[in-house]
Amino acid sequence: MSDQQLIPEEVPSFHADNYEKKWIAFSMVLLVAFAATVAIAGFALGFQIPGDESRVDPRTVAETLPWSEPGVRDLGGGEYDVYIISQQYLFTPREIRVPAGSTVNFYVTSIDVQHGFKLQDTNINMQIVPGQVSKLTAEFDDPGEYPYICHEYCGIAHAAMFGSLIVEAGGGS
Ligand code: CUA
Repeated sequence: MSDQQLIPEEVPSFHADNYEKKWIAFSMVLLVAFAATVAIAGFALGFQIPGDESRVDPRTVAETLPWSEPGVRDLGGGEYDVYIISQQYLFTPREIRVPAGSTVNFYVTSIDVQHGFKLQDTNINMQIVPGQVSKLTAEFDDPGEYPYICHEYCGIAHAAMFGSLIVEAGGGS
């Protein structure tokens, strides 16, 4: 009997106006939509996040292999590594050539300030931080010219900082 006395007659319940409930439902739909967007981008569309591939010393990296010989490395089987050094106000090398059908891993670092590396018509878009190597991979099926630009303001001649990836027709190397 004493147990029953502890239970209040009216249990207070969560009350929300109809309009508020609709907003709550809408917010939940949005969260699911955002999660789905991220999942589709990451798993179905192959979006990549440029990771902190490795650490280097920006003062000596340009004298250290493989950075002392920047450019293209043929790994065989249509795969290539490309090493690019960023500095005010140029990319080294300024021109890269690979055959069509290649898979290219871009390793980019900076020896002075923060730069950006965006490769037109691909999903390569990285922040380049001194002391860090940024890496992303792309496949090139279509021959053509793919300009790469610095898209983070790095000084007075920032706008002049660009280069060009040329994908050559015919395949083979
Ligand atoms: Cu380098 Cu802007």
